[in-house]
Amino acid sequence: MSTPSVPEPGPHDRYAVIGNPIAHSKSPFIHACFAEQTGERIEYDRLLAPVDAFVAQVRAFIEAGGRGLNVTVPFKLEAHALADTLSPRAAAAGAVNTLRFDRAGIYGDNTDGFGLVRDIEVNLGVSLADARVLLLGAGGAARGVVLPMLERAPRVLTIVNRTAAKADALVAQFAAAASGAGCRLTGGAAQAIEPGAYDVIVNATAGSLDGALPECDDRAFGAQTLAYDMMYGAQPTVFMQHALSLGARAADGLGMLVEQAAESFYVWRGVRPDGAPVLAELRKQLAASAGA
Ligand code: ATR
Repeated sequence: MSTPSVPEPGPHDRYAVIGNPIAHSKSPFIHACFAEQTGERIEYDRLLAPVDAFVAQVRAFIEAGGRGLNVTVPFKLEAHALADTLSPRAAAAGAVNTLRFDRAGIYGDNTDGFGLVRDIEVNLGVSLADARVLLLGAGGAARGVVLPMLERAPRVLTIVNRTAAKADALVAQFAAAASGAGCRLTGGAAQAIEPGAYDVIVNATAGSLDGALPECDDRAFGAQTLAYDMMYGAQPTVFMQHALSLGARAADGLGMLVEQAAESFYVWRGVRPDGAPVLAELRKQLAASAGA
């Protein structure tokens, strides 16, 4: 993945995560760890933007000398519209989670899919190359990870969604990228799931937020399957519990959160932090908060 040239970092450059709500964001902790680890001298805050004032808040932050923002719910589409230039992965995602401000203007990137891929391949040790992958969901979260996954050249990528037409639309959007990667990309409703256990199943639906299990053939889960939920919490999600009950391995999205942050840090600073120790610390904090 090529990254445009990074401007000269200054002392105590300002960054922040912007969203609504934002109080519980772990990003300030994560970036403080990265700054300490790499010796980069940055400040990183939380910015609560009123839902109708995202652009005004961003402009005020730039005026005040801000160098970059992480963008979270509900502003990723507005950030995409605001950027003067977009990385290919942000253009494909249709959403931006990382903004960088420099003389060239506002640069928009999306590091979510990279974060997912890195967590699966590096932290969890499962290669996507030549793998059979099932993606559940076809909303914004799913769309953001398709291109970074295809870049790892899986053999099969099946996209399944409750509303089949949205899965079909993603298949059409990424058909050329899939064919370039030598990947067979198909999708639709749950019937599109192919026989045989998948190597990786990613839950990109919003179902885990309200304890809902997306429709998925149990036979897609095998002993060698990694079932990955993009959500995380102190307890395993319903999707993870379901996968575990079927004998599969399960992981939540905490590592994706850390790795997308590491990639944002790289986009801003040109220095790549190590996500693993920060992930281990966050995992400890989460367990403590659950009284484990
Ligand atoms: P996000 O940005 O989190 O992806 P989104 O764009 O609203 O949010 O997409 C939500 C996704 O979760 C969609 O794929 C949605 O399915 P539909 O397209 O059929 O609405 C999926 N989803 C949400 N709740 C679900 C549930 N209870 N069961 C299955 N899929 C669900």
